[in-house]
Amino acid sequence: MKPKDNLMHDHKKIEVMLGILTKIGENIRKHQNPVLEEIDQIIEFLRLFADKLHHGKEETIYFPALFEYGMANENSPAAVMLFEHEVGRGYIRDMASAVESLKKGEKNAANLLAESIESYVELMENHILKENTILFSIGDKLIPPPKQEILYKDCQLMDSKFGEDQHQRFNELLHQLEKKYLA
Ligand SMILES: [Fe+2]
Ligand SMILES: [Fe+2]
Repeated sequence: MKPKDNLMHDHKKIEVMLGILTKIGENIRKHQNPVLEEIDQIIEFLRLFADKLHHGKEETIYFPALFEYGMANENSPAAVMLFEHEVGRGYIRDMASAVESLKKGEKNAANLLAESIESYVELMENHILKENTILFSIGDKLIPPPKQEILYKDCQLMDSKFGEDQHQRFNELLHQLEKKYLA
């Protein structure tokens, strides 16, 4: 097994959440009030699953191996991916602050929420596409197979440290929102 098998499995889950967010963004644009508790839960998924765990695997396990086996630290595909993780964090902060404003009754924050959702979805859809189609193919050429096996196990270890309970909780959230927004 390769680290990309683990990372692409995460991508599938993140892509489901991006589909849900797209729908929620469209609903806000149609002047429907977002369910703020749901947005809070989605922000938690983005912060813990998509960023801390998934981007954590990329930033501490996969990208360091790419750099070790010859990818440049600057102006390279992995450097662009690192930059995009940072941009994504900014959009998540924007979503969270729009939710706080909405909770205080500032109705015009709905547009800010829709904007941050749309920006995040667009960024992450392209980001995942670039990793799946470009970055991982480069990694397969650069990183020797025995090292790939070790990196795959390191990714699995991060999953187990993240905790089965937490994985389960986010899987249930995905199923529940998928049924509501994507059925
Ligand atoms: Fe990434
Ligand atoms: Fe990724």
